[in-house]
Amino acid sequence: MSIRNVLMVVSLVLSVLIGLVVHTNSTSNTATASTSTKEKGSGKLLIGFSMDTLKEARWQVDRDSFVKRAKELGADVEVQSANSNDTQQMKDVNTLLTSGVQVLVIAAHDGKAMAKAVGLANKAGVPVIAYDRLIYDSNLDMYMSFDNEKVGELQAQYLVDHLPGGKGSIVCIYGSPADNNAKLFKKGQDKVLAPLIKRGDIKIVRADWAEDWKPENAKRIADAAITSGKFDAVLASNDGTAGGAIQALTEAKLSNVLVTGQDSELAACQRIARGAQSMSIYKPIKTLAAVAAECAVKMATGKPIVAKDVTNNGKIDVPSILENVDIVTKDNIPQTIVKTGFHSYDEVYGDLPANQRPPKP
Ligand code: BGC
Repeated sequence: MSIRNVLMVVSLVLSVLIGLVVHTNSTSNTATASTSTKEKGSGKLLIGFSMDTLKEARWQVDRDSFVKRAKELGADVEVQSANSNDTQQMKDVNTLLTSGVQVLVIAAHDGKAMAKAVGLANKAGVPVIAYDRLIYDSNLDMYMSFDNEKVGELQAQYLVDHLPGGKGSIVCIYGSPADNNAKLFKKGQDKVLAPLIKRGDIKIVRADWAEDWKPENAKRIADAAITSGKFDAVLASNDGTAGGAIQALTEAKLSNVLVTGQDSELAACQRIARGAQSMSIYKPIKTLAAVAAECAVKMATGKPIVAKDVTNNGKIDVPSILENVDIVTKDNIPQTIVKTGFHSYDEVYGDLPANQRPPKP
């Protein structure tokens, strides 16, 4: 048995004795949660959800699905949104801890800065779930997200498959440099593109990070690329940045440029339906949010949680649940988006002339 395993078993035994939080059993790759050290009265469960932003449609869906599931399980949720500001997010976490939340769920604006917030929660005996974005170098209890490297792979592979002869020049718009996910998307994209760049088939004509994932920052990157010369595709890391890039392309009257995205936001699905955006990624965020709410309630009540994956955050191996992702294109929107109830047929196709709409699935 390795030293780490011995420590884990010891901490598991200790947790049973003194009622600590989540521990990884690395041999069976499962995680078990014991009760939070917060005083448990007979009152209602209270979960704190500290969010980076609610400005993108995606995060409103996360919030609503999380709160709905928590309510069904008898828990109240206090939600704070930091408007992409680290100081504000620290304040929000303090407010939530002061409110007496029994579990803290954090969608971090900055994966490094929020390690402090996890430390505060640790001191208060409140378990922490990193929601969708990993928080580095901290004693997290759980991490829940998607297969983010695969997102990047699917985006880049789409371009390679749709550029004539698999050749062309690409503008890369990465996400927020403070978001671990943005790095994972890039890692997946690089994995696909690196051999083709080496072979000379693909040329990256501009690559930059869109601070805070803002569409206006993505637009600036696309504007600069348009000014510098021609390109065939924009590898935008999400739908928000794709929207910014498409605005720049539209203003410059450029068509036939492939543009990727991610999140399957309604606006992006509408753009895909009318041919302005090439693809997006469907991530079952309603499921992720619901499962996160279930895990939070389990943590608050000391019930075991099974987490199939483990992610190292620079300090510990964090028990993780990582959901799968799918590609979304014009052809499969009816199946992936409409049939799953993510957006309705009328929402996606309502603005299109009847003869341009696909049959209802
Ligand atoms: C998420 C994306 C989202 C982006 C901007 C990332 O961490 O994985 O789904 O589009 O943040 O909010």
